[in-house]
Amino acid sequence: MGKERVAIILAAGVSSRMNTKLPKVLHEVCGRPILAYVLDACRQAGVGSLYVVVGYGAEQVKKQFEGSKDITWVNQPEQKGTAHAVLCCKKHLKDFDGETLVLCGDGPLIRVATLKTLMEKHKTERSAATLATAVLDDPTGYGRIVRDTYGNIQGIVEHRECTKEQLAIKEVNPSYYLFNNKILFDSASKVKPDNVKKEYYLTDALSIMIAAGHKVTAVTAVLPEEAISINSRVQLSETGKIMQRRIQLELMNKGVTIVDPPNTWIDARAQIGQDTVIEPFTCIHGEVKIGRGCRVGPFAYLRSGTILKDDVVLGVFTEVKNSTLSNGVRARHHSYIGDAIVGENVNIGAGSITANFDGKKISRTRIGNNCYIGSDSTLIAPLELKDGSHIEPGAVISQESMDKSMRKGKKNVS
Ligand code: UD1
Ligand code: MG
Repeated sequence: MGKERVAIILAAGVSSRMNTKLPKVLHEVCGRPILAYVLDACRQAGVGSLYVVVGYGAEQVKKQFEGSKDITWVNQPEQKGTAHAVLCCKKHLKDFDGETLVLCGDGPLIRVATLKTLMEKHKTERSAATLATAVLDDPTGYGRIVRDTYGNIQGIVEHRECTKEQLAIKEVNPSYYLFNNKILFDSASKVKPDNVKKEYYLTDALSIMIAAGHKVTAVTAVLPEEAISINSRVQLSETGKIMQRRIQLELMNKGVTIVDPPNTWIDARAQIGQDTVIEPFTCIHGEVKIGRGCRVGPFAYLRSGTILKDDVVLGVFTEVKNSTLSNGVRARHHSYIGDAIVGENVNIGAGSITANFDGKKISRTRIGNNCYIGSDSTLIAPLELKDGSHIEPGAVISQESMDKSMRKGKKNVS
């Protein structure tokens, strides 16, 4: 193995505080599993091989990420602590002569910039281990960073093991580490479960390194919000809020207007073009692509597979799912458009819907260019409307009734 950098991501824990059957790292934040964010941060920081340690619900986790070829799955059948989890990777990494990043799978707010700072510091200081720390107003629950009078790190003490003085320390360990791989495995194998939980703590490997004379550096580079790892449903929702803010900031910086950010929800996978305006109480769920100059909402609900081309207007209580709406489509009030392909400049009147489900199967609706769909129409799928079709208000249209009217030479269908 060469000198590249690898990552070990710890994701084997049960997470009793989440009170869940689903593996914790599969819970979603803004539409994506928690673990996906951690993996992406590693990739964007230039880490080529990812070793993910799984235990509880291992098969489920593997299945969700089965397309990712850069992941090596490592089983930890019994969760004996974070050092033990790292040691489970020994078989793969014992001869690796490079740097190993160790992160927890339950911290999706991790930023690429922080990982880069960690790598930079590790290099310039020529350390055996570098960890990124955060300073928190409320450090409850986290391992505390204990430094000597010169500011050198002496070790990390877990919350439960802290003395009264140590509990007052506000600098904490968010579990972002970079190690010289060989020193990591050597030190982790010396860790003893001498603590209240009888677990093998990775944090103890650092004290072992320091005692052996290796250089360990701590850099305060983690924003307080980034330090949050998800251990409960409350933290899940708080993390979701922070992530939502990040998603919206990025979109606004790219030229999207979000009229009322706190009352708008946008999935992490959504793409939105320049000069599109998102009105309040709009929910954009799943993989949705919105073009330029569109106006969406208020109270619009866009679901997975929706593509809006440019200059589309969707108004109040309009739901779109798995459909493509071409340039200039208008659906201003109370519509459901599901599994449809809608041509250019189509006007969909108030209350019109695609009836895409017959109780057994879902069918598609195709609406040609420049069609007029009168208010309160029901378009029963499967259905194809030719370019320029004119549907009278209140019509209930099936392919059969449509063809019949056409045969009679009618242009307007009702
Ligand atoms: C750990 C750190 C603590 C730090 C905190 C930050 C240790 C001993 N403590 O504590 O200093 O402030 O994270 O969030 O490392 N895991 C496994 N296998 C195991 C045990 C844990 O894969 O046997 C995984 C968990 O799934 C989780 C991560 O490791 O993703 C951290 O474990 P957790 O039990 O949450 O550690 P904390 O008590 O939060
Ligand atoms: Mg934790």
